Amino acid sequence: MNIDVEDGVNDFVKQRRDGSVAVIVVDNPPVNALRHEVRAGLLEAFSAARDDAAVSAIVLTCAGRTFVAGADITEFGKPPKPPILSEVISAIEAIEKPTVAAIHGTALGGGLELALGCRYRVAAAGAKLGLPEVKLGLMPGAGGTQRLPRLIGAEKALGMIVSGDPLPAQAAFEAGLVDEIVEGDLSAAAIAFARKLVAEKRTRAPVRDMSEKLADLRANPAKFDELAAAQLKRARGLAAPAACVEAVRWSLDVPFDEALKRERAKFVELLGSDQSKAQRHVFFAEREAAKAPGLPKDVKAREIKSAAVIGAGTMGGGIAMCFASAGIPVTVIETSQEALDRGLATIAKNYRNTAARGGMTAEEADRRIGRIAGALTLEAVKDADLVIEAVFEEMDLKRRVFADLDRFAKPDAVLATNTSYLDVNAIAQTTQRPGSVVGMHFFSPANVMKLLEVVRGAKTAPDVLATAVDVGRKIGKVPAVVGVCHGFVGNRMLRVRGIEAERLLLEGALPQDVDGALTGFGFPMGPFAMGDLAGLDVGWRVRKAEGRRAEIADQLCEMGRFGQKTGKGFYLYEAGSRTPKPDEEVERLIVETSARLGVKRHPIGKEEILERLLYPMINEGARILDEKIAARPGDIDVIWIYGYGWPVWRGGPMFYADQVGLAQVRDRLVQFAEKTGDQTLMPAPLLARLAAEGRGFGSLAAK
Ligand SMILES: NC(=O)c1ccc[n+]([C@@H]2O[C@H](COP(=O)([O-])OP(=O)(O)OC[C@H]3O[C@@H](n4cnc5c(N)ncnc54)[C@H](O)[C@@H]3O)[C@@H](O)[C@H]2O)c1
Repeated sequence: MNIDVEDGVNDFVKQRRDGSVAVIVVDNPPVNALRHEVRAGLLEAFSAARDDAAVSAIVLTCAGRTFVAGADITEFGKPPKPPILSEVISAIEAIEKPTVAAIHGTALGGGLELALGCRYRVAAAGAKLGLPEVKLGLMPGAGGTQRLPRLIGAEKALGMIVSGDPLPAQAAFEAGLVDEIVEGDLSAAAIAFARKLVAEKRTRAPVRDMSEKLADLRANPAKFDELAAAQLKRARGLAAPAACVEAVRWSLDVPFDEALKRERAKFVELLGSDQSKAQRHVFFAEREAAKAPGLPKDVKAREIKSAAVIGAGTMGGGIAMCFASAGIPVTVIETSQEALDRGLATIAKNYRNTAARGGMTAEEADRRIGRIAGALTLEAVKDADLVIEAVFEEMDLKRRVFADLDRFAKPDAVLATNTSYLDVNAIAQTTQRPGSVVGMHFFSPANVMKLLEVVRGAKTAPDVLATAVDVGRKIGKVPAVVGVCHGFVGNRMLRVRGIEAERLLLEGALPQDVDGALTGFGFPMGPFAMGDLAGLDVGWRVRKAEGRRAEIADQLCEMGRFGQKTGKGFYLYEAGSRTPKPDEEVERLIVETSARLGVKRHPIGKEEILERLLYPMINEGARILDEKIAARPGDIDVIWIYGYGWPVWRGGPMFYADQVGLAQVRDRLVQFAEKTGDQTLMPAPLLARLAAEGRGFGSLAAK
């Protein structure tokens, strides 16, 4: 057989011959995922090349923009169709002729495992290599946990597998994962590399037979325990990172074939787990959440080359940092020199602190600081492609600012407001160009939190909406498109949770009970510790504006207890500490308030606290869906995971509701409504309907 032109093994795997080098090409756009036909085609092509005496070496490459970037995760949950990936890899690994994987783009998950089956790897300079399975609640299931440690050592492998973060080509080269970095034509270079191996008669043992890099930790298992403990510190409640650690440990003390069997079994177990199902749901939901229903397909985002932020307070400063960090110059505008200096100094301090902690070089910090200019007049927005308003949360002020922006901003500038609650349509009305106005609701601290609620006003133009989403991605956020209502999606649900949390205090719980139930569930902190962190005066002002009271929180504020910033709030904070300590004074205040209001206190269990906090949120989520403020239940899940610390492995409130069962949620809500007399706790029509039909939110068709 002599193939000079490309020949299809099947629709997804091609092969050609370059002299005596067989070149096998995976061609399954967009990311060359390892669907069944790819696996079968690879096995066939590699076997044929192995058996063909005219072939001296084999190069594996991929068509399009990337090497194999992973398994085909749409096949997850279906019975595996042979050959499974690990069989293909074992067959490739057994080939004695030189085998070379030529990597460009990203070699991820199954893609990297496939490359580990080859004896050599070359990579384009911009390539990235990683095993990100852990991010889907999984672990590598085709030998990655066993081959990677043999190639780069167990310590480095542990870091890569538990974090799921990829290595850039250069780092992969230094670690020994890649044998050569290639500039220019990758497959030509890989073929030349293969020829050289043949000419020099170089051979190398398959990765499975390597052991040199394991010797160190094999001799010192206690060191591995230390490394593992450090890796697992931030993985509270998660099964997958623990499984990754266990599997890497097998590379030290279990024979290779036995370890592969165990790895596969553990992978299958994780695949069926609720945690992984939740994380896979979030993976897809995240990609959907930025899609606004009814937006024309061909709409193009405007290019944002420069930005302006109005207000250099808590949010304005953080938002400006997002742009500066993404390489987009930004002008920050304040009303007084003092406020501007304070804002810019905070930004500089944040960057310098990150540099001091080793998060970036001092030069990089300076470069980013250098991208931020200050100004004291709104006219300074005149060159900005995007303006984001982050002044105080007052409607009259915001309307004045937008009326002025209308005079100074370029005709094609996008005008965004970071308002948390206010009516974006009313703000847009003050301009002659309501189509250019959109909400871009960041979360505090804005330079850290991933969520961006993109608020679509009644008149927001499609390309303005697309621009907000696009620039959101460019500055590293997870955008979720929402409609206009009081508090949009996230804060509207947060408000409901806050009301229930107060009520629980009056009925018998203490702040630490309520917060403890939520941290036990997996939140990083509960509502009272969060209130103390943000400042209790913030919510106090909002409630006053809304004409409502929260008995306990309001009294604390009246006592000057604003939270961490005053050393006291729902908890006590010792000087210089952020650790909340239960406070007897607060306990007395709560008990007295219950008595004054005639509420008989009684013990409330953890389970009930959780239900009382979470089910009303789910109910509000159902209303939000009914009103089309959010297009899909998954959008709400994404918002709560990236904006409010909902544990990712619980999939978000709406996913969680489906797991609990909507009939259960409905029945408990009815009981809560009866018990409290609060009719807003009665099941929302959508929730009641789905529960009656035995359905979940997940069954609502995606739009
Ligand atoms: N703090 C949060 O957690 C948070 C989260 C999301 C959204 N938001 C929203 O972001 C906005 C700002 O909130 P913040 O917490 O940053 O407030 P902040 O009080 O920290 O900052 C507001 C800044 O705006 C400045 N300012 C006021 N009027 C101005 C004007 N006409 N021109 C230029 N600057 C002016 C003030 O001097 C101040 O520095 C609000 O709408 C708020 O609801 C806040």
